Amino acid sequence: MTGPVDAATAGEWADALIHGRRTVLPKRLAPPGPDAAQLQRILGAAAAAPDHGELLPWRFVLIPEQARAALADVFAAALRARDDQATDEQLAQARDKAFRGPVLLLAVVRLGAPGDDIPAAERLVSAGCAIQNILLMATALGFGSALTSGKALSSDLLRALFRLAPDEQALCFVSLGTIAGPRRARARPGVERYVSELKAER
Ligand SMILES: Cc1cc2nc3c(=O)[nH]c(=O)nc-3n(C[C@H](O)[C@H](O)[C@H](O)COP(=O)(O)O)c2cc1C
Repeated sequence: MTGPVDAATAGEWADALIHGRRTVLPKRLAPPGPDAAQLQRILGAAAAAPDHGELLPWRFVLIPEQARAALADVFAAALRARDDQATDEQLAQARDKAFRGPVLLLAVVRLGAPGDDIPAAERLVSAGCAIQNILLMATALGFGSALTSGKALSSDLLRALFRLAPDEQALCFVSLGTIAGPRRARARPGVERYVSELKAER
């Protein structure tokens, strides 16, 4: 924003941004990705996430071009470990996922230990808010974005590659890039589907 914006205009901008964000699958994310300054801005948006106790219970790991092959090896090995019948084609597909999207990040949450003051659920909420801030800032700057997961996320091989601490969990990958294909259309749920009112007993 370059100057004061009235609440109605800000509301319209927020509406357009929030409802305009759509998953753009990583195979449809092309170069150029965000430049260094844009990426700092996108990553900086995560810092505005609510964070009970200011634990910073999440982090993001950038996976640059030169590290994609190591991730591809993990995707293929994780697939082979859970399916020894995996075909060469399936293994190649698994590898290919590591090379999609000009910017690829792994979102990691630190869940802590049972009994910690700030429980795992709250840390996960904070991580989700940080991820959403990243998606929204990327959208605001004109980039497409996607979250992807998969069974490899919980594999020991991936944990080892990203040097996850015992109380850390890999949540999802975040891909960013220029929109190079149709975006998925999704009917959003109506408010009545997820909001109810507490009925007072007395
Ligand atoms: C933690 C997380 C992991 C996800 N993993 C995948 C995935 O592996 N593949 C995929 O196509 N979409 C994945 N999604 C994206 C959802 O499918 C997508 O957000 C949903 O379809 C709604 O579409 P929209 O983002 O355009 O509103 C993931 C979303 C979240 C929150």
